[in-house]
Amino acid sequence: MQQDIIQSAKSRHTAKAYDPSKKISDADLVKIKELLRLSASSTNAQPWFFVIAGTDEGKSRVAKATEGLFAFNKAAVLNASHVVVFAARDELSEAFLQTVLDQEAQDGRYDAPEASKEKMHEGRKMFYNLHKEQLGDAEHWLDKQVYLNLGSFLLGVSALGIDATPMEGFDTKLLDKELGLDAKGMHSLVIVPIGYHDESKDYNAKLPKSRLPYSEIIEEI
Ligand SMILES: Cc1cc2nc3c(=O)[nH]c(=O)nc-3n(C[C@H](O)[C@H](O)[C@H](O)COP(=O)(O)O)c2cc1C
Repeated sequence: MQQDIIQSAKSRHTAKAYDPSKKISDADLVKIKELLRLSASSTNAQPWFFVIAGTDEGKSRVAKATEGLFAFNKAAVLNASHVVVFAARDELSEAFLQTVLDQEAQDGRYDAPEASKEKMHEGRKMFYNLHKEQLGDAEHWLDKQVYLNLGSFLLGVSALGIDATPMEGFDTKLLDKELGLDAKGMHSLVIVPIGYHDESKDYNAKLPKSRLPYSEIIEEI
């Protein structure tokens, strides 16, 4: 069901328990993939990669990273319809930068006479090298782009009437090995079980939302 954007922001919450019998439809899965693809990122670098676990076997593999310290997150990973692993590239290789540029060209971004493919390529590299060589925070800069995607994803799935649980509570190193992300030059940041909550067990759905007042977080000048 479509709803007003503020309503989507208000009604979304971190689901604490899922109904394992309820699955996300194929039509909504297509929309979910579009949400992941359409997020903004600085210089359109798109330094993200997603693993979507939709089978019991896939979810069990992700759940291996929710043992011990992170066991409180395990049931949601196993019972959700799907789990999306948000990963970031460790670096922007020249080959990847070229892939982004070629895609932009293919999508018609440089068709207009005033558009310069070379300028865009140089600009993107300038930003990346600024973070890599001068600021020394290139990995954080790439990670931040992935978190931006996470933010729009959480609001987006809420608008689709789908529950979600953003999680940093998992063993990132273990998951990177399990999914072969480290071999691809990537690392996991957040996992997001999505699906339909179990109304009787999801205590967070019944709690009032708590946020700081405007006076604490906004200055109007
Ligand atoms: C990046 C991130 C990581 C989080 N990690 C976890 C987690 O591991 N387990 C969990 O149950 N909730 C986790 N949360 C949920 C937050 O506690 C929750 O978003 C916050 O309390 C606000 O509540 P709301 O999402 O219900 O509005 C995480 C949220 C974010 C954005």
